[in-house]
Amino acid sequence: MSYRIDRRQLLTLAGAGGVGLAATVAGVSAAPVMADPKHHLDPFTLGVASGDPLPDGVVLWTRLAPEPLVADGLGGMSRHVVPVRWEVAEDERFRHVVKHGVERATPELGHAVHAEVHGLRPDREYFYRFRSGTDVSPVGRTRTAPAASARPRELAFAFVSCSNYPTGYFTPYRHLAAESLDLVVHLGDYIYEGPAAGTLGRAHLPATEIFSLADYRVRHAQYKTDADLQLAHARFPWAVTWDDHEVENNYADEVSEDAAQDPESFLRRRAAAYQAYYEHMPLRRSAVPHGPDMRIYRRLRYGRLAEFNLLDGRQYRDDQTTDPVELDDPARSMLGADQERWLIDGLSHSAGTWNIVAQQTVMAKADRDPGPGELLPNDNWNGYEPARQRLFDGVVRRRVENLVVITGDAHCSMVADLKQNFDDPASRTVGTEFLGTSVTSGGDGAPMDTRGTEWLASNPHMKFYDARRGYVRCTVDNRTWRSDYRAVPRVSTPDAAVSTVASFVVEEGRPGVHAENA
Ligand SMILES: [Fe+2]
Repeated sequence: MSYRIDRRQLLTLAGAGGVGLAATVAGVSAAPVMADPKHHLDPFTLGVASGDPLPDGVVLWTRLAPEPLVADGLGGMSRHVVPVRWEVAEDERFRHVVKHGVERATPELGHAVHAEVHGLRPDREYFYRFRSGTDVSPVGRTRTAPAASARPRELAFAFVSCSNYPTGYFTPYRHLAAESLDLVVHLGDYIYEGPAAGTLGRAHLPATEIFSLADYRVRHAQYKTDADLQLAHARFPWAVTWDDHEVENNYADEVSEDAAQDPESFLRRRAAAYQAYYEHMPLRRSAVPHGPDMRIYRRLRYGRLAEFNLLDGRQYRDDQTTDPVELDDPARSMLGADQERWLIDGLSHSAGTWNIVAQQTVMAKADRDPGPGELLPNDNWNGYEPARQRLFDGVVRRRVENLVVITGDAHCSMVADLKQNFDDPASRTVGTEFLGTSVTSGGDGAPMDTRGTEWLASNPHMKFYDARRGYVRCTVDNRTWRSDYRAVPRVSTPDAAVSTVASFVVEEGRPGVHAENA
């Protein structure tokens, strides 16, 4: 079932293959330079974004695309290198510009711009904008991380996942933009790869399932034209990781869900999808893809208050299985050996009070059989039990404290204590999982559904379930972690109001989550 093929051979294939992947070195291009660009249409149709804050800077992002939805994926740009100037100011009117520079937007990277700014002050708000020719972008607001040695009073962030464009209006993103936050974390399914049209006048472009670099570029561009999403990006720095739909449903490393896609052609598709993802996200140069490989797992620090470990649960995993012997095979991995070691080493050396694992799929045991039997999903950590046990045992052995796992993928909200042995409620609680619902995937939703009833009946470590759309807002200080589940009653109309449907608290040094009565 699982294939192993030579990566170098595939790199060659990707380079020479039909998807037209060129040298992906930021700013480097064989194309001629347009020294004095004149755009006939606004090139900043996709908005602006910032991401991956450090104490001294952030990444600033935009992409020149005067006609973002043209089928060739070039966004209406000619094959020239175009200089783009960026400015960072202390004030929204740019009276006090503190940093500026020029990046080269190249056709090889879809005229995406990633400016890595340094020399800013820690834990400060800044404003930024881009300029190309006479055109000026919208203004973005961002914030640097606190200094490594600082003890910030509070960290406020929110996490989101599963934003399916045809399925609903991005109202949760609009409400998110109105929050007061230091950071937004996106846990994947930022786009969906299918041909869905929906009924809201938000049909996917291209209208087919996407495979080529041009396809993935158009799809990402379509999502980025959404005003609510643009607002949320322009308001806060984001830290993003992906799940499966950025490439293909339920893919595992080089194995497509579709048996008809052989690993070689699937890896060409993965290379196209990863490149378009990089081009549209505020990621650092360290994430520039190399053929079908892209390093996205990484760590972000908020002084001595919190560390985020952003994981990649797709690129290195073993293929899903239903074979009971394979399911128990300790050699099977969710993260791959390198990332697994990186994670446990990082957690055990953390300088932060709160150790956040920001990742894709449900980690808590999620049995759906209300009787004595077990009915477990195989695409999340329930299908990789020995790997989950290795992680939990490592957390206990290396004395990792205040572990909080934040999760997407499942299109519902759930809160669970993570038990070293889920079958023994008296066993040690190694951390807490906060599962966040989708932005739109699944449509309007409801407070409860069949899965929720089954989960709460069969899994004593689960404390809460809700199946409405929304996001999770977290407020963290040295003593208390608080998660507020923010939900809208529907996404089938653009005007739904947001409310807090439940709040949960974890106390520092005292494993186990508690509902907070508002
Ligand atoms: Fe999803």
